[in-house]
Amino acid sequence: MTARRKGHKPWGGRFAQATDPLVETYTASIQFDRRLYRYDIQGSIAHARMLAKCGLLAKAEADKIVTGLHEIVGEIERGEFRFDPSSEDIHMAIEGRLIEKVGEAGAKLHTGRSRNDQVVLDLRLYLREQIGLVRRLVAGLQRALIGQAKSHLDLIMPGYTHLQRAQPVLLAHHLMAYVEMLERDRARLTDVLVRVNVMPLGSGALSGVGLPIDRRFVARALQFRTLSTNSLDAVSDRDFVIESLAAFALLMAHLSRLAEEIVLWASSEFGFIELPDAFATGSSMMPQKKNPDVAELTRAKTGRVFGALVALLTVVKGLPLSYNRDLQEDKEPLFDTIDTLLLTLPAMARALATAELRPERMSEAMNEQLLATDLADYLVRRGVPFRASHEVVGRLVRRSEARGVALSELTLDAYRDEHEAFDEDVFVIFDWRTSIDARDVAGGTSGRSVDVQLAEARGRIDTARSLLG
Ligand code: ARG
Repeated sequence: MTARRKGHKPWGGRFAQATDPLVETYTASIQFDRRLYRYDIQGSIAHARMLAKCGLLAKAEADKIVTGLHEIVGEIERGEFRFDPSSEDIHMAIEGRLIEKVGEAGAKLHTGRSRNDQVVLDLRLYLREQIGLVRRLVAGLQRALIGQAKSHLDLIMPGYTHLQRAQPVLLAHHLMAYVEMLERDRARLTDVLVRVNVMPLGSGALSGVGLPIDRRFVARALQFRTLSTNSLDAVSDRDFVIESLAAFALLMAHLSRLAEEIVLWASSEFGFIELPDAFATGSSMMPQKKNPDVAELTRAKTGRVFGALVALLTVVKGLPLSYNRDLQEDKEPLFDTIDTLLLTLPAMARALATAELRPERMSEAMNEQLLATDLADYLVRRGVPFRASHEVVGRLVRRSEARGVALSELTLDAYRDEHEAFDEDVFVIFDWRTSIDARDVAGGTSGRSVDVQLAEARGRIDTARSLLG
């Protein structure tokens, strides 16, 4: 008997009773793991070819299987495939349909394979591709940031610590901080990829396969770098998913910080940017409102990505070796995270690329107290110890506040009153650009340093593009 009886499970041999429908519903994963169909079929084709090469399948049988599997891809993509919950998961659904189509040959496909190594293979193929997509989208967001930086190379704004105005910085320097964070996110994903890109097939259910198969053949066919080295580990760990989720969580944390700045900057209080109408939404009640919803939702969606990471760490932490059904719970958090990123990254890139900066609001936010450190540095250049000059400038700030005037409006006498090292040339420091360009250390906010950052970032992104195609 080759064709499967309706409702009969591939594992039905030792069961006298049919599965309770509630159990079927509770244990089924086909509602969500169907999105793995392409990878499942890709893996099965490589597996079938290998079985034929090793003499475990006749060439004609392998051909029938491969043709059948290609047809099934078509059926799924045209929406003709019936995803029946009684099939439990995508692996059994596809295998069942294959047996229906090609009979006996189809029933041989699962030779030397278990769903336990099959599902890991599918997940690794899926994740490998998605990581590539995410990396490219991150580069797109970096380009949007670089684009804004390049269009406003001379724009100066207050830099903040504790959300208090602190020192002048170039807007481009501020934006490039995010480009750097995102660069590390891309690097982390590249690193994770090395451990995702491992071929698990041949691990069988848990102990390996007792037939003369060729694991290297499958690895080559599917372009895997390496083979898994321990079958128990290969079917039962999901650390490659967890570390991907950790890298994604960190990426979302960075996006969330950027989103928070967009929310702040779009407020009337800051007014540093104006979001284009196409990227904001209104209020159904307050006619004047224009809300930065894309940024707000990015900030909020970060929660579900963190949640996915914690969910999967928790699933894995108490599992004895080797495979346990608990591991089926790895997929929804991962899929949800990928879906979130594939929407969030382009939305944020567009929001940033189209945001209109408002230089006049940035310059209104500047005040001379931002130059207090420059004033202290002036004394340091004249040999005054920094701690002493800090104290002197603190007193000058107090004086200017008491008189209700700006620092540059205090007289030279007032300055000399506090320290005799002050000279007429002290007033030269009251120039934003002088302050900016003084910070000419590597990584500082000077125009030259920011030019270097821009050139290096562009270079890295372009190299990545040419390597990945
Ligand atoms: N649907 C299962 C999963 O996602 C596939 C492996 C099931 N293996 C088993 N022996 N029940 O993990």
